[in-house]
Amino acid sequence: MADLQLRDDVPAAADDGVWLACVECGETFAPFEAVRYTCDDCDGLLEVRYADLPTWDDFEGERSVWRYSDALPFDQGVSLPEGGTPLHRVPRLEESVGVDALRIKHEGMNPTGSFKDRGMTVGVRVAQEVGVDRLACASTGNTSAALAAYGARAGLETLVLLPAGKVAAGKVAQAALHGARILEVDGNFDRCLDIVQELAGRGEAYLLNSLNPFRLEGQKTIGLEMLEQFRDDYGEVPDRIVLPVGNAGNTAALYKCFRELVKAGALDAEEVPKLTGVQAEGAAPMVEAIEEGNDEVRRWEDVETIATAIRIGNPVNAPKALPGIRETGGTAVPVSDEAITEAQRDLAGEGVGVEPASAASVAGLRKLRERGGVDPDEQVVCLTTGHLLKDPDAAAAAGSDPEPVPDDADAVLDHLEG
Ligand code: F0G
Repeated sequence: MADLQLRDDVPAAADDGVWLACVECGETFAPFEAVRYTCDDCDGLLEVRYADLPTWDDFEGERSVWRYSDALPFDQGVSLPEGGTPLHRVPRLEESVGVDALRIKHEGMNPTGSFKDRGMTVGVRVAQEVGVDRLACASTGNTSAALAAYGARAGLETLVLLPAGKVAAGKVAQAALHGARILEVDGNFDRCLDIVQELAGRGEAYLLNSLNPFRLEGQKTIGLEMLEQFRDDYGEVPDRIVLPVGNAGNTAALYKCFRELVKAGALDAEEVPKLTGVQAEGAAPMVEAIEEGNDEVRRWEDVETIATAIRIGNPVNAPKALPGIRETGGTAVPVSDEAITEAQRDLAGEGVGVEPASAASVAGLRKLRERGGVDPDEQVVCLTTGHLLKDPDAAAAAGSDPEPVPDDADAVLDHLEG
């Protein structure tokens, strides 16, 4: 990695060696004295910084987000608990994609069925610290399900803004049952986020989208956990991590994870896995920026894909994520809805049930292998971000149809043989 800039200057206002820094201008802020999502001076994205960074020996306890508390702003959060997700072997898929090793880090196995729980266990803890009473997010679904559950756990009011008609059934059901107030906006996710940012700016609610830098601290533990698990089996870290990209929060979080490990001396800069982002063809502004070498991402006003979780035209974490993809030697690739569904079936054929957005990672890897962007000797981890049951309609459409049979054993056998 070319540039591993993490500023060392601990500001006077830092609480227990934790502070916020602007990724654009470097201005620093105390972490919990005020509600703040972006830089007061230049409106740049904020990042959590630590005076002391942990190494592998500092992590203790069973695999969960809070095993990595030395890399987080608190020792414990509002927990259900989260993390400790499997790193599946998928031998048939490994063979058909044609790489030396392929593992699936299945974040759909978190308590509400997506990686968002890792962010919320930290983010809702921070909400308690700063003393807010109403939490809010815009969401393509999973963030709203996680926020509703963690908000309920913490006894806080929760407000979620969803793009009307574009959120998978399982996610809406979760948000509803966990007691969130659900507002359906006549507009896409990006408009929902514009609105909720405005509400948060007016002090009406505490924003828990991935613009909130503390959410990404929790999501950073995907990287820590994955590297430990991969090392257990292979004795080294993977060459590449392939992940679906929406707002690019995970991309930013994994990049930060690696930078901190390198800075702590826990990972060699040359070992850092190549961050490889995948977007649906109909919602691919990050891919466009990478392919065209742009420093800024153009907002796409019209987005469409079967992978509704990543139906996003304005990836707000792009300023943090683009350098991550570039400096790790990774890339970004678009995939068709058909390829996403095919990959969803391939994963299901290995017993791993994921929602469409998750399958984009595998579809992207396959595409990169076919067109030569990934070498056959690479060891790869694909991140699958959400559970199959999040989007039962997509799963049913991708799977086999039920066959009606009479209520009689002989007739059932006739049907099977016929
Ligand atoms: N995969 C799933 C299943 C998601 O729900 C999301 C984001 C992503 C991938 C993209 O992750 O934003 O870190 O690049 N879902 C958000 C939501 C937007 O509202 O649930 P990212």
